[in-house]
Amino acid sequence: ASAQLWGGRFASGPAEAMAALSLSTHFDWRLADYDIAGSRAHARVLHQAGLLTDDELRRMLAALDQLAADVAAGTFTPVPADEDVHTALERGLLERAGKDLGGKLRAGRSRNDQIATLFRMWLRDAARRIAEGTLDVVDALVSQATAHPDAAMPGRTHLQHAQPVLLAHHLLAHAQSLVRDVDRLRDWDRRAAVSPYGSGALAGSSLGLDPAAVAEELGFTSAVDNSIDGTASRDFAAEIAFCLAMLAVNLSRIAEEVIIWTTSEFGYAVLDDAWATGSSIMPQKKNPDVAELTRGKSGRLIGNLTGLLATLKAQPLAYNRDLQEDKEPLFDSVDQLELLLPAIAGMLGTLRFDTARMAASAPAGFTLATDIAEWLVRQGVPFRVAHEAAGACVRAAEARGVGLDELTDAELADCSPHLTPEVRTVLTVQGSISSRNARGGTAAERVAEQRDRLVDVVQAQ
Ligand code: ARG
Repeated sequence: ASAQLWGGRFASGPAEAMAALSLSTHFDWRLADYDIAGSRAHARVLHQAGLLTDDELRRMLAALDQLAADVAAGTFTPVPADEDVHTALERGLLERAGKDLGGKLRAGRSRNDQIATLFRMWLRDAARRIAEGTLDVVDALVSQATAHPDAAMPGRTHLQHAQPVLLAHHLLAHAQSLVRDVDRLRDWDRRAAVSPYGSGALAGSSLGLDPAAVAEELGFTSAVDNSIDGTASRDFAAEIAFCLAMLAVNLSRIAEEVIIWTTSEFGYAVLDDAWATGSSIMPQKKNPDVAELTRGKSGRLIGNLTGLLATLKAQPLAYNRDLQEDKEPLFDSVDQLELLLPAIAGMLGTLRFDTARMAASAPAGFTLATDIAEWLVRQGVPFRVAHEAAGACVRAAEARGVGLDELTDAELADCSPHLTPEVRTVLTVQGSISSRNARGGTAAERVAEQRDRLVDVVQAQ
């Protein structure tokens, strides 16, 4: 017998390096509240099964309440001999309830079903916080879209000027992907809301305990169907690691654009002082560190996902100690996002756009060439021919160093006999933008509708 929960069959305690390797309280202590919640639920099913008297249940719950209060106050903390959060709290319970009563709580449960349950509980709460933080970023994007309802910019493909679009349309494109990230987290929760408590080490309990009652008390929708699966599976962890990595990758795409937009070459936007940093040597610098840390940390979250998948790969059923490696990557992904999300929301919400400069560059690079081709199509010209003619206009304008709108009537007619001066109606950025008025398009009224739907999503939460 020793400080361990498993000392009975051992003549000696663990070697120092063994104990050091085994230790997990430095990261799993954050599960302490969930562990105690699980213990309360477990005490109740032991009582229901006739394994605790009314008085024992009352004293057990009182001891657990005292333990929870001491944990919250920081007056109870793990000591080096506590292998993990479960061991530490067991010690705390024995100290408060006495060895005889406290020692009854372990019946019918194992650290294997405990950890699988507590980790799900922690992640479900984390997913809700991350979803909220993500919607704050969506809110910042929606506010900027609302503040700039008709600012034009060059839309890009391959980073090259492609077609003029509204800045609001572009910002809301990012909002759409973030809303899907939130949706993914909520969808994940339906699968994660299943409790392994009562699975025991792997085979289930022989003591007449009611896993469904524990599941309900802990906020799950049901208990697992299979105790081996309940203790061995971690796809719930890998799945949310993906959801979080995807969110980080989506954020990194916004971040990259902020980094580009705030360069001298682009000059599309200026960072607010509160969301930028300076240089220790170059007095003029204003650096987009929030965006760069977002871009950088997205790599870290991808690593957390791939690392966890590698840990899970080929593990035989049921529980293996390898599974202890599941927690740090997820804790880290959540911690990093909880640092990033408010900073990104702040940075985006306070970004100042140079809409005049953006609008001026919107037609550059012959972004209205598609409008010439589509205008010709509306005159009955086959698109193949129209594309050729619009391309000829680009060649002519490029040769003379002018914009498409500066071609003379004669030059236009040279490119195609169908190119009458009426084509000039579409040779403006505003004409181009307002003509793309089908659902999802960049015309102002369509973008406003899209924005309204996003506002509904944010407010529904
Ligand atoms: N600390 C372990 C984990 O995080 C749970 C304990 C199970 N340990 C054991 N030897 N069965 O997965």
